[in-house]
Amino acid sequence: MAIPAADSHICVTPASASDLQAVRDIDQAAFAQADWWAGDLWAEMLKNAGSRVFVASKARTAAAHSVPGVDSMDAAAEAVAAPVGFIAFERSGKLMKLGVAPAARQQGVGRVLLAAALQVLQEGEFKKFALAVSLHVEPTNASALRLYTAHGFKKDGVVNDYYGLRRPALRLLLER
Ligand SMILES: CC(C)(COP(=O)(O)OP(=O)(O)OC[C@H]1O[C@@H](n2cnc3c(N)ncnc32)[C@H](O)[C@@H]1OP(=O)(O)O)[C@@H](O)C(=O)NCCC(=O)NCCS
Repeated sequence: MAIPAADSHICVTPASASDLQAVRDIDQAAFAQADWWAGDLWAEMLKNAGSRVFVASKARTAAAHSVPGVDSMDAAAEAVAAPVGFIAFERSGKLMKLGVAPAARQQGVGRVLLAAALQVLQEGEFKKFALAVSLHVEPTNASALRLYTAHGFKKDGVVNDYYGLRRPALRLLLER
């Protein structure tokens, strides 16, 4: 099941067990070691009915991969490359983690992943659970803050020591 994305070259899909290694690799490339999630936490997020992990891949055009003698099923199977980003969220409306591989940044991947999660939380299957969407972000994380404020998130307070000693978080909220 692919989720429609505004940027047609980026494809967002629910993560499956076969994406887990790629998701962990992106997590480790995107975040400091203290913030990496263990494999069993990722597996739990995938299994749990109240949480979702989506992955984003750069769609390859079928034309670019159509080779004489290769039938269209093979071309379709080739049409989506390995994940370059993920978003993990809960039906309570909490966005838990968003990460994009460094080489794939500033190409709209983060924006498309955030939009896909917001769609599920505000209009899709989690609509009745999520009265508001919330997340935490480091006050120094300018790129993430810009992405979130562009989607209407507002500052809702500071949580001291959220990421560890003397590492506060800003709590951001997006109300319906
Ligand atoms: C934050 C992050 C997810 C953004 O992903 P991305 O794919 O690069 O973002 P996009 O290309 O979709 O950009 C969307 C918007 O984010 C903001 N943005 C992204 N990179 C930026 C940068 N380097 N500087 C300033 N703003 C930036 C911009 O507002 C941008 O919109 P614009 O292009 O119209 O100006 C990515 O940088 C990342 O994985 N960072 C490390 C992990 C992290 O900090 N996650 C968030 C934790 S809360």
